Amino acid sequence: MKVLVAGAAGFIGSHVVLCLLESGYDVFAIDNFSNAVEGPDGKAESLKRVSELTGKDIPFAKCDLRNEQEIENLFTTHKFDAVIHLAALKAVGESVDKPLEYYANNLIGSLNLLSVCKKHGVKNFIFSSSATVYGPPKELPILENASTGQGITNPYGQTKYMVEQVLMDLSKAEKDWNIVLLRYFNPVGAHPSGRIGEDPLGIPNNLMPFVAQVCIGRLPVLKIYGDKFDTPDGTGVRDYIHIMDLARGHVSALDRIKKAKQIGCEIYNLGTGKGYSVLEMVAALEKASGRKIPTEMSVPRPGDIASCYCDPSLAYEKLGWKCEFGLSEMCRDLWNWQLNNPQGFSTAAGPN
Ligand SMILES: NC(=O)c1ccc[n+]([C@@H]2O[C@H](COP(=O)([O-])OP(=O)(O)OC[C@H]3O[C@@H](n4cnc5c(N)ncnc54)[C@H](O)[C@@H]3O)[C@@H](O)[C@H]2O)c1
Ligand SMILES: *[C@@H]1O[C@H](CO)[C@@H](O)[C@H](O)[C@H]1NC(C)=O
Ligand SMILES: *[C@@H]1O[C@H](CO)[C@@H](O)[C@H](O)[C@H]1NC(C)=O
Repeated sequence: MKVLVAGAAGFIGSHVVLCLLESGYDVFAIDNFSNAVEGPDGKAESLKRVSELTGKDIPFAKCDLRNEQEIENLFTTHKFDAVIHLAALKAVGESVDKPLEYYANNLIGSLNLLSVCKKHGVKNFIFSSSATVYGPPKELPILENASTGQGITNPYGQTKYMVEQVLMDLSKAEKDWNIVLLRYFNPVGAHPSGRIGEDPLGIPNNLMPFVAQVCIGRLPVLKIYGDKFDTPDGTGVRDYIHIMDLARGHVSALDRIKKAKQIGCEIYNLGTGKGYSVLEMVAALEKASGRKIPTEMSVPRPGDIASCYCDPSLAYEKLGWKCEFGLSEMCRDLWNWQLNNPQGFSTAAGPN
């Protein structure tokens, strides 16, 4: 099976490509480098390393999903059996300041990709969704049948919810699509080799890349947003999942599509089902690194919730997927990546 991976050069995409190749799938990778490092030869530094790790070539094209013609050109020259769509702008805070950019990229990009898929009869489709579609959880742990779309506080989350709606409607209208919505919780860590990992361009938006940069001395101090939440230590609790477990989830979803005749649209939470607080995460990275991480208490950000974690048992039941790694592996591999690539991929890509 030949799989088109959109957003392949990014954090999650690069790990997904690696897992696909290791599971015997063929991959064609695209990205527009809006949030990934482009090497001097126009290829993605992250994917070059995935090639080294797997010993396999990765066909790649620079392609912007906002440009339907670019996608169309790819589909006329290559025959794809499935698409994994990870390409999106993803910074929650930035999406509040730049709503038009986020809606345009994440919605139009997805619609363009889907129209071309339809035109070429490529109807196996996996979409990167997010726990954010649930809004503030009414019940914990979160099951896939919990309500979605209510109380989403930012345009980024809205785009994930809207694309989910598009895909659900599509599967109602056309029964021959096989669609899987993967609702990610909080992916962290890196490939155990330390060769690929998360390389936020600029100040990291997510907790653990930020903590790792404080730990290595690139940033001075971690501001903790709120210590009066209704959680055991007062700081926010989230469901962190090792990036390799998350990436493997895509292979499991694809395996299911390959085996099943018609699945319509299925939805799976990808998380460990365990919540850890900010302070627990900091302590775990201090342990993994043997360093002290300076922190400072601050006020909660608007829209922040106390706790969010899922029940991942549906993915186990239907996909046979479950997490293999825990908190210590997440922090070990994050630290290994950070230590070996203090400036992310950009040092390797040359001066910039
Ligand atoms: N990292 C998380 O915490 C998280 C959580 C839930 C969902 N997600 C979703 O998972 C997906 C991957 O996230 P990530 O963390 O790897 O982010 P990332 O920014 O590292 O990767 C996304 C990639 O998509 C590319 N891209 C963006 N717009 C594009 C366009 N118009 N055309 C082509 N390529 C484009 C970017 O250049 C980038 O390489 C995203 O859809 C994101 O919303 C991420
Ligand atoms: C890629 O897409 C993003 C999001 O729409 C856009 O802001 C950016 O300019 C594009 N980058 C490149 C290098 O084409
Ligand atoms: C969701 O599914 C669970 C387990 O299958 C079930 O117990 C629960 O009643 C369902 N909830 C809703 C809101 O449908």
